Amino acid sequence: RTLRIGLIPGDGIGKEVIPAGRRILEALPASLGLKFEFVDLKAGFETFEQTGAALPDETVAILKNECDGALFGAVSSPSTAVKGYSSPIVALRKKLDLYANVRPVKSVLTAANPIDMVIVRENTEDLYVKEEKTYDTPEGKVAEAIKRISQRASSRIATIAGEIALRRQKIREAGSPSIHKGPLVTITHKSNVLSQTDGLFRSTAREALANPRFKSVAVEEQIVDSMVYKLFRQPEAYDVIVAPNLYGDILSDGAAALVGSLGLVPSANVGEGFAIGEPCHGSAPDIMGQGISNPIATLRSAALMLEFLNEEAAAAKIYAAVDANLEEGKLLSPDLGGTTKTEDVVQDILRRL
Ligand code: NAI
Ligand code: MG
Repeated sequence: RTLRIGLIPGDGIGKEVIPAGRRILEALPASLGLKFEFVDLKAGFETFEQTGAALPDETVAILKNECDGALFGAVSSPSTAVKGYSSPIVALRKKLDLYANVRPVKSVLTAANPIDMVIVRENTEDLYVKEEKTYDTPEGKVAEAIKRISQRASSRIATIAGEIALRRQKIREAGSPSIHKGPLVTITHKSNVLSQTDGLFRSTAREALANPRFKSVAVEEQIVDSMVYKLFRQPEAYDVIVAPNLYGDILSDGAAALVGSLGLVPSANVGEGFAIGEPCHGSAPDIMGQGISNPIATLRSAALMLEFLNEEAAAAKIYAAVDANLEEGKLLSPDLGGTTKTEDVVQDILRRL
């Protein structure tokens, strides 16, 4: 099978880590029967400054018509509004209907309480439909935002969470040392207060997970505020967490803090038959150009993309090579307390692969 992969480095250290993602895919053993073709694509703030579009139409068209998946680095978003600019990854999620944001959070096995969970965030609606307005009243301005929750989106996000739980069950049964829990899906919401919107999310997710094919999957619920508390007190208690957009965004950044560095945490934006792997970190202007960025979040994102393109065996090889580097703990980048350069971390992981 030949997979055609779009490469979108974006800005800052995206340009340092995406080439590493390409190299690890190219280094996969031939025995897997996988070949790759790569297409270099533009997006980001630099692209915006050069062309007036942060996400050129050509990039979207090539991804849609020619690619099986993509790797996206990071973009530098200006902190004050710039006319005409909006985040390309947010636009891509909409244009390609990448409805799930999947974020595995995993600590090194030598940690006292190994963490190995996946946060599955709904990616298309909730407060992020960005339907906001501001109006004047005699007492001053009032601003409002729409929180939209649909049965369709809630059902498909819960379904993919259930599928991920089943896949992890298989990995656990095959002897994974870190997945010691599950299959379990924890539905996160605030339906005690938002009985209609979060209420619909909750009941629809329950219904989707009641499907007989999820018979072996335990389902529990957690109100989002106590979820944050428990996530920090007892992170090892979770397997798969599913949440509406906003809560999922916050929970997944919070969970990333549990494992030491943003440089380790991958994500995938997943739609029907398409996936974009994307490290969770930004463009890190403070370290760019020094050759010290941690490539692991991107390498894991490449593996995660492969998982959702049904190439689980190839993904497992990459995960194992990365884990072996971390477990040995000798060649670590500065964000993990080491002194190793990006290139040498990549070399070590390629050698293990
Ligand atoms: P950041 O994630 O770029 O950096 C936060 C801190 O983590 C920095 O100290 C950085 O050096 C470090 N770090 C991040 N990735 C690392 C890696 N792979 N290896 C070693 N250290 C790493 O977040 P920040 O500084 O808040 O944002 C910088 C820019 O990135 C902004 O323009 C922001 O808008 C953008 N950004 C883009 C995202 C995306 O494209 N999805 C996500 C987050 C931020
Ligand atoms: Mg975020």
